Amino acid sequence: MESKYKYNEATVRFYDVVYEDFGHLKKGLEFYSQEIKKAGGSVLEVGAGTGRIFIPALKQSADIYGIDQSELMIEKLKSKLDPAEHYRISQQDARNFNLEKKFKLIVSPFRVFQHLLTVEDQLMALGRIYDHLEAGGYFIFDLFRPSLTRLVNEVNDSLEFDGEYEPGKNLKRYYSVKPDYLNQQQNVEFRFVWDEDGEEKTSTYAFPMRYYFRFEAEHLVARAGFKLEHIYGDFDRNELCNKSNEFVLICRK
Ligand SMILES: C[S@@+](CC[C@H](N)C(=O)[O-])C[C@H]1O[C@@H](n2cnc3c(N)ncnc32)[C@H](O)[C@@H]1O
Repeated sequence: MESKYKYNEATVRFYDVVYEDFGHLKKGLEFYSQEIKKAGGSVLEVGAGTGRIFIPALKQSADIYGIDQSELMIEKLKSKLDPAEHYRISQQDARNFNLEKKFKLIVSPFRVFQHLLTVEDQLMALGRIYDHLEAGGYFIFDLFRPSLTRLVNEVNDSLEFDGEYEPGKNLKRYYSVKPDYLNQQQNVEFRFVWDEDGEEKTSTYAFPMRYYFRFEAEHLVARAGFKLEHIYGDFDRNELCNKSNEFVLICRK
């Protein structure tokens, strides 16, 4: 069960600084924080990353747990937590995790499911999530809505972040995207360039992202036994329309 999704050091190191000001991510944080607050019981984040959603939830006294397959992401998240809370985090894969605990709510924010490339992987993860939910519990996750024009246009080394990662130290992130229509994947490459010890350093990280069409996502969650209660078109809970950038799926066990 191979995974092509192991973040490299630069991706983990600069994750927080790059994503801090991404507009739709702030909306996503608000949305998931509200859902976690109203869960009324234990919550699990699948693909918890560096704790963008997890840490604010814990600070608001949520009984939240997190898994992530990436050792580097888990290390970074743990480094931000009081050691007394480390038991809440474990390095596990969405496709075969086991926590011997059930949850009222499971969330998988910011494209985690787009890192599951095959239908087999997606169903395995949905199956583990289903089994970890209490009866009537919810699974909430998001996908980008594929824009047909963005799918056909390649992107070549476009600058998407230019700022400081520490006072006086510049970081740039460039990205490239090449389509793979047959496999419904966007092959993405990040190129980081940053100042360190008076030198310019670079690091490149390439990974595939699976995109889903609307009815495919609907069939998929139904196949895993979920009742799809709603798909919103953004994190403000607007209805899906032709201009929507997101699929935000609310699934009930
Ligand atoms: C874009 S990040 C999102 C992190 C966090 N949820 C957030 O909102 O900032 C995607 C995360 O999913 C994790 N991930 C990818 N595939 C996974 C899998 N099969 N099982 C568990 N985690 C996975 C990655 O390691 C990464 O930390």
